Amino acid sequence: MGGTPPFIRSASGAYVNDADGNRYIDFVQSWGASLFGHACPEIVDAVVKAAHLGTSFGAPTELEVRLAELIIDALPSVDMVRLVSSGTEAAMSAIRLARGFTGRDVILKFEGCYHGHADSLLAGGSGSGLATFGIPGSLGVTEGAARDTLTVPYNDLEGVRAAFAERGEAIAAVIVEPVAANMGVVPPGPGFLEGLRAATAEHGALLIFDEVITGFRIGYGGAQSAFAVGPDLTVLGKVMGGGFPCAAFGGRRDMMERLAPVGPVYQAGTLSGNPVAVVAGITALTLARERNPYPRLAKTTEELAAGLHEAFGRSGIAATVNRVETMFSVYFTAGPVRDFDDAKAADLDLAPEFRRRLRRESGEESARFGIEIDRVIGHEGGTLVDQPQRQIGLAAAGPAANQDAAALDGDAGGLDEHRAI
Ligand SMILES: Cc1ncc(COP(=O)(O)O)c(C=O)c1O
Repeated sequence: MGGTPPFIRSASGAYVNDADGNRYIDFVQSWGASLFGHACPEIVDAVVKAAHLGTSFGAPTELEVRLAELIIDALPSVDMVRLVSSGTEAAMSAIRLARGFTGRDVILKFEGCYHGHADSLLAGGSGSGLATFGIPGSLGVTEGAARDTLTVPYNDLEGVRAAFAERGEAIAAVIVEPVAANMGVVPPGPGFLEGLRAATAEHGALLIFDEVITGFRIGYGGAQSAFAVGPDLTVLGKVMGGGFPCAAFGGRRDMMERLAPVGPVYQAGTLSGNPVAVVAGITALTLARERNPYPRLAKTTEELAAGLHEAFGRSGIAATVNRVETMFSVYFTAGPVRDFDDAKAADLDLAPEFRRRLRRESGEESARFGIEIDRVIGHEGGTLVDQPQRQIGLAAAGPAANQDAAALDGDAGGLDEHRAI
C-alpha cells in the first residue's frame, strides 16, 4: 500500500479508529471476515459467553456439529465439513485430499488467484496464454513444491482444455476462486465455471471452489449457488468465522471420508473447531440466514460503485470499477479487467497515491480502502455511499480541489456489463 498502515485501536460497525485518533469508514472489514461490521453485538455477546465455558478442549463439541450443519444446509455441493483455523489451512488440506483421493499430483490454478500461503499454492506462471509449470512465487518455496502446480490465466477456458489435453492424467484438481477477488474483483466470464466443471469431470479431476472470500459474502449460498455450478470440494473462511480464526473445507461424502481418522489422508489441528471461534461462526451464519443482508448490501455497493465510476469520469482519471454483488474494486485503467494481465496493466503507482490523497483531503473522517477488494457494510445508511463518493471526488481532483467543484450527485446510471454480474 505504501507508507505506514494505520494501527487500529478500536472498531465498531462500519468504522475503525486508529492509534493517532483518526476515524475511517472501513471498506476493508478485516479483509472480508466481518459481514455485519466490527464488534457486532450479537457475536461479541456469544463469544464472551462461550469463553466462560472454556476456550479449548481437544475434544469435539456439539457446536462444531451445528456449524457444520449450517454450512451443509447453505451449500448444496457440501455433504461433510472439516473445520480448521485459517483459509490457508483449508485450501492446503483440500489440495492434499484431492491428491489423496485421485492418486494424482498436479494442481491447476489461475494467475492472480490466491489460495493462502501453502508452498504449492504460491507458484506463479509466466503470464502467457498457455498453461505453465509453476515457478516459486516466494522465496522459501522450493522448485519441487512449485513443479506440481500448473497456472493458467483466469477466464481462459482454452488454456484449461489445453492443459488437460497435455497433462490430464496427472491433474488431481483445478482450484479456482469462482469470483476472483485477489487481483481486485474479476467476475468469471460466461461459461467459465461451467467449462471448468465439464473439463474436470471429463478427465477425472476434482473441481475445488475456493470460497474463502465469496462464501456467505456474495450471497448466503456463495458463488456456487449464484452461478449454479457445483464443485467437488469447497474451501471456506472469513465470513464463516465471524471475525475469528475459523475456516473449513467440505464436499462430497465419498471424498471427505478419505480424511483421517476414517481415511488415509492426514489432517488435524489442535485448535480446529475451537469453541469460541465456532460460536462466532454460528452466530454470524445464523444472522446472515435470518437477516438476509445481501440484497441491501448489493444495492449499496452498486450505488457506491456507480458513484465512484462517475467521480473518476468527471475528473478525467482512467479507472474501472469492477463489482460483483457486495464486492467491488477500483483499477486505474480504462479496462475492461478480465484477468491478471488486465489487472497488472492498471497504474499501480496511482493507487497508493490515491489512498494518500484520500487520507489527506478528507477532513475528520476518511475512507479506508483495501489493496484488493472492498466491501460495503450498509447498515449506517446513506453516509457510506455519499461521503466516500465526495472524498473520492476530492482526491481525484487533487490537492487544489475545492469541495463544490468535486461535489457529486451520485446519479451515475447503470453499470457497464463487465462491472456487474
Ligand atoms: C480466496 C482466498 N483463499 C484463501 C485465503 C487464505 O486465507 P487465510 O488468510 O485465512 O489463511 C485467502 C485470504 O485472503 C483468500 O482470499
